[in-house]
Amino acid sequence: MVRSSYDQKPFRRLVMETYGATVHPSPSDVTEYGRSVLADRPDHPGTLGIAISEAIELCLHQENTKYSLGSVLNHVMLHQTVIGQETMMQLEQIDAVPDYMVACVGGGSNFAGFCFPMMGKKIQGKVETEFIAAEPCSVPSMTKGDFKYDYGDTGKMTPLLKMYTLGCDFVPSAIHAGGLRYHGMAPTVSVAAKLGYIKPVAYEQRDTFGAATIFAKTEGIIPAPESSHAIKAAMDLALEAKKTGEEKVIVFNLSGHGLLDMTGYDRYLRNTL
Ligand SMILES: Cc1ncc(COP(=O)(O)O)c(C=O)c1O
Repeated sequence: MVRSSYDQKPFRRLVMETYGATVHPSPSDVTEYGRSVLADRPDHPGTLGIAISEAIELCLHQENTKYSLGSVLNHVMLHQTVIGQETMMQLEQIDAVPDYMVACVGGGSNFAGFCFPMMGKKIQGKVETEFIAAEPCSVPSMTKGDFKYDYGDTGKMTPLLKMYTLGCDFVPSAIHAGGLRYHGMAPTVSVAAKLGYIKPVAYEQRDTFGAATIFAKTEGIIPAPESSHAIKAAMDLALEAKKTGEEKVIVFNLSGHGLLDMTGYDRYLRNTL
């Protein structure tokens, strides 16, 4: 588990331990790569790129260990499209066509899964929907990164991927949206952004927690800090529509609840973020 999330989200660790797992903070001392990172910087907050390298190293040396990707590669994006297909069916039932579809982006999987089915219709010229990808200002892979070949992990063990990237050795600040602390972006999401099918936007952490608390009070759901980026973007679009007096259909993906992220809410509510 990435060190910053290990420290910020103790209940996530406890869920895994309840199921019998032993959880190590990454960079860890259980892999050669982790030890090499710690040798340079003992207080390293960790990154998803380093955790991936450590996981790959463990798989290479242990017969009974497999690595299952959570994000970024094409087959993961494809698998996630069940979300977007279901969304399209739900929209058909209420006869609505979205003006905007919004999701947060870490590695890109919830965004791709949610948006790609409708983007197919857009490419066929059947809808005018705009697709908004919300990322943190402190990990601006699409708003400020380069579109080039880079490694998916920090230890340079994966194949090279053509994607928007901040560089595989980029170390983001320890924001509470730990799932968005990834240096790169799925190649499929990256190419769609490069071709102009996606508008990336970036938000500061405090603003996303502000949007999250409004959402919690109005909808009764405490959102994950990652999802709160999408909520902030959707709220901004709604406020813009209110200003111009236009009626807009805005659909966003709530990628997760925040009940395991209450440390972040605690710090936001006590003004110590
Ligand atoms: C709740 C939540 N939303 C979004 C993400 C970002 O990942 P992706 O961009 O692959 O959907 C994560 C990653 O851990 C997450 O936990």
